Amino acid sequence: MKQKVAILPSLLAGNFGRLEESALKAQAAGGDALHLDIMDGHFVPNLTMGPDVVRMAHSCLRIPLSVHLMLTRPDYLVDAFIEAGSATLLIHAEAQCDVAKTLRRIREKGIRPGLALNPETPAAALDPYWGAFDEVLCMTVHPGFGGQAFMPEVLPKLSEIFTRARQGRGEESVVDLGVDGGIDLETVKQAAGAGANIIIAGSSLFKAADMSQALAAMRTAAEQSWTVADDS
Ligand code: DX5
Ligand code: ZN
Repeated sequence: MKQKVAILPSLLAGNFGRLEESALKAQAAGGDALHLDIMDGHFVPNLTMGPDVVRMAHSCLRIPLSVHLMLTRPDYLVDAFIEAGSATLLIHAEAQCDVAKTLRRIREKGIRPGLALNPETPAAALDPYWGAFDEVLCMTVHPGFGGQAFMPEVLPKLSEIFTRARQGRGEESVVDLGVDGGIDLETVKQAAGAGANIIIAGSSLFKAADMSQALAAMRTAAEQSWTVADDS
């Protein structure tokens, strides 16, 4: 596995009347990248933002953008999100499209492809695609909304993917493992302890009285817990 823990604030928890300000706040607080949640009202029961918001963030930030496509047909829109300035594009394994082809398309355009798994989707869903993604994102809530409770039942799957990636050779050995949903100062320890090195956090960071301090504390907790996972 790649080893550095990264903390990504999720713009979904920002102020939708002042999204640019929220994006800049995430960067100033020390976010390693910004996570943007794109929802289509079909794959998940909510609508959020489109390529123009990604373009806005790209134009005002130095940190990279990690764009999480909760879309039934991500293949229709990957080009628009690439063009808008995504650095990483995550599609769902449950999407109703040719997932391998869509991941290939993302890579061909020079963008990092990632594959996200809903809480109930088993690690085996990754099997046809190893080598086609650089990151696995395990959802620890049902996607669609911020502010939900962390689902600890996803932890065994995280450990399974972490172990598989560490034991793998070549293609399997270079993936990052992300976690998304309900992450706070306590649950981050469980997630990083199971091997997650990319930490997405919305509410707990944006609602903190001091976002920089909350992010730094989350980083320390994640790094300490991840080291334990790596030693096991
Ligand atoms: C949920 C999104 C998450 C969300 C996390 O569908 O994918 O990225 O922003 O928000 P919190 O951290 O509030 O659970
Ligand atoms: Zn997300």
